[in-house]
Amino acid sequence: MSNAKLILDGAEYELPVTEGSEGERAVDVSALRKQTAAITLDYGYANTGSCTSAITFIDGEEGILRYRGYPIEQVAGNADFTEVCFLLIYGHAPSKEELARFQAQLTSHTLLHEDMKKFFEGYPPTAHPMAILSSMVSSLSAYYPEGQGDEDVDLNIVRLLAKTPTIAAFSHKKTMGQPFIYPRNDLSYCANFLHMMFAVPSEPYEVPDVLAKALNMLLILHADHEQNCSTSTVRMVGSSQANLFASIGAGINALWGPLHGGANQRVIEMLERIRQDGGDVAKYVRMAKDRDSGFRLMGFGHRVYKNFDPRARILKRSADDVLDALGVDDPLLDIAKQLEEVALEDEFFVERKLYPNVDFYSGIIYRAMGIPTQMFTVMFALGRLPGWIAQWKEMRQDPRTRINRPRQIYIGETEREWVGIDKR
Ligand code: ACO
Repeated sequence: MSNAKLILDGAEYELPVTEGSEGERAVDVSALRKQTAAITLDYGYANTGSCTSAITFIDGEEGILRYRGYPIEQVAGNADFTEVCFLLIYGHAPSKEELARFQAQLTSHTLLHEDMKKFFEGYPPTAHPMAILSSMVSSLSAYYPEGQGDEDVDLNIVRLLAKTPTIAAFSHKKTMGQPFIYPRNDLSYCANFLHMMFAVPSEPYEVPDVLAKALNMLLILHADHEQNCSTSTVRMVGSSQANLFASIGAGINALWGPLHGGANQRVIEMLERIRQDGGDVAKYVRMAKDRDSGFRLMGFGHRVYKNFDPRARILKRSADDVLDALGVDDPLLDIAKQLEEVALEDEFFVERKLYPNVDFYSGIIYRAMGIPTQMFTVMFALGRLPGWIAQWKEMRQDPRTRINRPRQIYIGETEREWVGIDKR
């Protein structure tokens, strides 16, 4: 192990350097404050590793994403989403028997406690489904309190993976004013969700295979992305030993923001705005470059990817295939492609290494599948669920985990005397 040297106020300190399995290096500052009384300051944590992790590897410069070592291109093209859930959470690709057992467990836990159905009645029909999802997921902890052993944790993991699609579909039905459709045990994970979303009691509904396949791929592409905003939130909340449902509920709220998972909804709203405004993409590229406009190209840019987002590449290719298979001709797909072309040629975007991210094309596919725009971030949450769970579990099992408690540099008033209200 090598060391880094730090010189502070003339004194020299040695800091250990840690290396990951892909050669990533970190200067370990765990003992910095004790040794030097100084801390590090890193806005947005762009240079700060909060943990070591064996779940997901990203090389943002090369556009590489791997789940437990498997390239995203291979996983997205071949695996079932439930296999990916198992892989991320338990660390290895399941055997046939393991997968069959896991899928059977997921199938047998999809129902919600009947009392939870009453919660939906309290929301206005205009409620954003992310508000419903996060509170319902937190509420699961009222029905399934955390036990002591690993078996209880595993059971709650299954419950969470099984019940979240039911909550998501019910929140959609609530918005539509339609009756809730109960899960069906003969359907796969993805087909069951689509059935709960789109079936109505008055007529038969057959889940189109093309929809189930597209959803399977979309969920896999979103399944984990190491220490992003929502995952770090899950770990942060979980570090206080808050239970699984409470920690993931917090992650869902973090995902909602437009700079994170909420971007997929904003992309469609932006493309629609451009279409209604005559389709002049160059005008919007100009606006995005103008700081005073307050406008950003949604679905563009990424903290980590500085070359391309491999998920966006897969989605761009799939968008054509899925829309063709569904017989959908969406003018927003053409606008998206034009926008990408213009932006990628533009010096502003080239210089800043801004490329389409996963959210740029996902919304177009969801739209073609009949998923309403407000549900897009919920779809992201369904995909990210196994990643959050895997990261929460890894954090809980790591003996080095301490409650997450960053420090600060105070820049407020120094000590002063309190002045009574009559003298102010
Ligand atoms: N449109 C226009 N300019 C942009 C964009 C954009 N989408 N993204 C970044 N920039 C510019 C910034 O203005 C800044 O320019 P400057 O150096 O002249 O000030 C520079 O590029 C760097 O941007 P930062 O905001 O510092 O980059 P950061 O890493 O903090 O943010 C983020 C990354 C949040 C993804 C940003 O690119 C963004 O806001 N994108 C749009 C929202 C989006 O698509 N979010 C989804 C991200 S993927 C996900 O969470 C699933």
